[in-house]
Amino acid sequence: MTKPILVVTSRYPKAIEERIDREYDARRNPNAAFMSQEELLAAAEGADALFTTPANRLDADFFQRVPATVKVIATFSVGYEHIDLAAAEKRKIPIAYTPGVNAEATADIAMLLLLGASRRAYEAQELVRTGTWKPLAPDMLLGWQVGGKVLGIFGMGRVGQATARRARAFGMKIHYANTRKLPESAVADAIYHDDPHELLHVSEFLSLHAPDTPKTHHFLNARTIGLLPRGAIVVNTARGGLVVDEDLIAALKSGQVAAAGLDVYEGEPKLHPGYVELKNTFLLPHIGSATIETRTAMGMLALDNIDAVLNGRPAPSLLRR
Ligand code: DGY
Repeated sequence: MTKPILVVTSRYPKAIEERIDREYDARRNPNAAFMSQEELLAAAEGADALFTTPANRLDADFFQRVPATVKVIATFSVGYEHIDLAAAEKRKIPIAYTPGVNAEATADIAMLLLLGASRRAYEAQELVRTGTWKPLAPDMLLGWQVGGKVLGIFGMGRVGQATARRARAFGMKIHYANTRKLPESAVADAIYHDDPHELLHVSEFLSLHAPDTPKTHHFLNARTIGLLPRGAIVVNTARGGLVVDEDLIAALKSGQVAAAGLDVYEGEPKLHPGYVELKNTFLLPHIGSATIETRTAMGMLALDNIDAVLNGRPAPSLLRR
């Protein structure tokens, strides 16, 4: 029996690779090299499905040119700002994504960033690794305690809620802004702010968990950073596009923001060099969902979707415009 042809633009954990090899006739780039849009379109000739990542921008031009044999595209992500959904709909190509499986792993990274930024982990690492650590001085590397402080969560979806649960265990008081107020069963005693600017006023720590949409794009800018209490700490595990980099960097220099923990950047994998030059930043390379368990669950969900569409069954997570 012939297997469906699946274009695979990236490398996945072992269990995913094995399933792809078992169930599909896979087209990959040699040596797991990045697949450009042109290479993806060429590989898609005669293919049944595409398995892509956020590194593959699927814009209007892509959807005009994608071969008619392609019946479904799955992105290995919960975020989908890299896909022109209207253009996909015009071509009647269902788009699958991977919601609901990355929250716990990403919330772990939000806490790592929150603690790393507030306890000056980058500077501490530098002392240890460069051999410049001197005998204990009581004023060495003083950070900011998290217990008793207000954590403002912008975007109280699954990741925001999982971060709130963790932060509560560290003694933080949770406030949040979201498109709607959530029931107590989801957010416990967290305090809701209808107006995100009100949230900023109280956020000694601010963690971003909203998608990057036309409404939230550049939410954190010079004006909104100015609403934070002086010396606030900013964490971002959501999308780099929520932040105006120059403005956050200026605030990190002036002390308006004491420290920032970032896992995502506008234009990544490139990031604004200003972040790297500063010592009060704790920086990671978009590893929110990077555990074997989560990345495997994401891959399985993406393949379940492709499988369902190709076999005419209801798919578990298709995007609707
Ligand atoms: C997601 O799932 O969108 C993560 O940010 C990885 O891209």
